[in-house]
Amino acid sequence: MAWRKQQSQDRFFQQAKKEGYRARSAYKLLEINDKFHLIRPGDKILDLGAAPGSWSQVAAKLGKAPKIVAVDIQPIEPLPGVQTIQGDITKEETIAKIADALPEGADLVLSDIARAASGIRFADHARSIQLAQAALEIARRFLKPNGAFVVKVFQGEDLRDFVEETKRWFETVKVFRPQASRQESDEHFVVCQRPRKETSK
Ligand SMILES: C[S@@+](CC[C@H](N)C(=O)[O-])C[C@H]1O[C@@H](n2cnc3c(N)ncnc32)[C@H](O)[C@@H]1O
Repeated sequence: MAWRKQQSQDRFFQQAKKEGYRARSAYKLLEINDKFHLIRPGDKILDLGAAPGSWSQVAAKLGKAPKIVAVDIQPIEPLPGVQTIQGDITKEETIAKIADALPEGADLVLSDIARAASGIRFADHARSIQLAQAALEIARRFLKPNGAFVVKVFQGEDLRDFVEETKRWFETVKVFRPQASRQESDEHFVVCQRPRKETSK
């Protein structure tokens, strides 16, 4: 049974290899985009926690000549059409670099950020909420009117409060779990659309 489960999940890994995506996570963004239609031609897209780069690859492909700024604490191998910034999104110096790269703001802010799991469930959840909050601050700062924000969070006691917080800033908020998420993972994606007037640039 366990091997069967693993094999079906690995289909995304195999598909990513075949289709040239750097990670199987690409299929999560493809599913999110199929459902919510977020990526539009020529969009300016900010991809937080972007390494190794599969979400930026998807954004570059679907966005048709978009401007993509990809940020990660780890280095990201160069990708055509993608400007990379190495930095911690919780640090002001990284936010200053994002401001330089996107002076006109972003149509879409993506955050697939995750720290290596410690295995201590409540600590991993708390850290994921902190990083999601940092991503929300960045989205509030850089999103244009009619922009959208997608952020990964892990299931846990603070998820509901975080979702309520996003509703203060966005008119439409949905929690979505793609098929491509591994069964053993607690991850969910909060998809926020239509920034309330006072939040957008
Ligand atoms: C699941 S991976 C992202 C995968 C990526 N979306 C893709 O499709 O290739 C999560 C990333 O978050 C990054 N990360 C974790 N904490 C961060 C932080 N504070 N600032 C920036 N990036 C961070 C990690 O280095 C890691 O590369």
